[in-house]
Amino acid sequence: MTATPPQQAPARTELDTERMERFAGRVQEFVTGGMLSHLIGIGHRTGLFDALARGPATSSELADRAGLNKRYVREWLGAMATGGVVEYDARTLTFTLPPEHALCLTGTRSTNLAPFATGVAVLGEHLDELTTAFREGGGVPYERFRPRFTELMDGMNRGLFDDQLVDGILPLTGDLPARLAEGIRVADVGCGTGHTTVLLAAAYPASTFVGYDFAGDAVGRARAEAGEYGLDNVSFEVLDVTRMPVDPPFDAVFAFDTIHDQAEPARVLRRVFEALTPGGYFVMMDTRAATDLVDNLDNPNAPLLYSISTLHCMTVSLAQGGAGLGTVWGEQLARTMLTDAGFVGTEVHEVPDDPLDSVFVSRKPGEPPAQRTAG
Ligand SMILES: C[S@@+](CC[C@H](N)C(=O)[O-])C[C@H]1O[C@@H](n2cnc3c(N)ncnc32)[C@H](O)[C@@H]1O
Repeated sequence: MTATPPQQAPARTELDTERMERFAGRVQEFVTGGMLSHLIGIGHRTGLFDALARGPATSSELADRAGLNKRYVREWLGAMATGGVVEYDARTLTFTLPPEHALCLTGTRSTNLAPFATGVAVLGEHLDELTTAFREGGGVPYERFRPRFTELMDGMNRGLFDDQLVDGILPLTGDLPARLAEGIRVADVGCGTGHTTVLLAAAYPASTFVGYDFAGDAVGRARAEAGEYGLDNVSFEVLDVTRMPVDPPFDAVFAFDTIHDQAEPARVLRRVFEALTPGGYFVMMDTRAATDLVDNLDNPNAPLLYSISTLHCMTVSLAQGGAGLGTVWGEQLARTMLTDAGFVGTEVHEVPDDPLDSVFVSRKPGEPPAQRTAG
């Protein structure tokens, strides 16, 4: 007996040519955006944007100002002018970076998006291996992305943390700032270059902080920065956080942009729970999205998040034989996993100035221990 083929909708025979042309235009925009991102990344890395932000210049003057090759700068300016990044005055042959654009491409504030543009190249470095993983499973391990990923991550988040960690994010965590001021023990898991740990340690000298990351290059940078700040209440360890110490316990644990990358996210959440005192805080900054694709269809950031996931966050987890949660694990699954790990009272807040992330504030049940000296 032959199986009946599944019912299929009849194929449309007539092509909507307008629709086809509109879509072709969109594809061209994607390609142009990708190419311009590379040139914006080069502008960031070579200091061209900083040089142009100092004032209008001809192509030759800008090359001299930035100490770069004139021919390359002229071509780069062609892309920047036609791409609407800089303005060109054909009468005076000068290029200008409008102040509004300069805010988006220069400086140390979170408004500087140029470090993000470098991510297109960094996350695109291993497309051959990634294509193999599509065919054979597995993934591209973290080590393949370092050390450039360490630099990228630091560049993407540093301005946000400078602007928002102490004054924007911490106020979302109930009475945690007051407890930090009194003096408690705090861990920062998956701390990367440790800028968050250092900022917290500088803001709360009565508390002690330890940052854990399994990337040696990131931890080296974290230690150096803590040294530059002259802090004696912060330390860093190269450690897989599935094995973070649970005794003596911590009063608060932070996790910035790291849980969705984990090979064993459920195990890490459970370990964090075990490492906390009763009443302890778990503050997790992670991506702002929904778990179900259908709820992300109107999220303008979703294509970026799914792409970053495929190119990096999901693949580094799968490379370790991990869960491969991906960047878009979403708020609903995050809440479920926090509950499964034992946490209660989870509140989710928007991160000020950051449409890509949420802050999840959870507690371990129980009463916090009586006030004691951190250490
Ligand atoms: C996306 S980066 C975030 C870094 C930093 N928290 C930030 O916000 O800039 C994720 C970090 O988690 C670290 N990581 C991932 N899994 C880990 C594990 N099991 N143990 C320790 N570190 C881990 C990575 O090495 C990486 O530095």
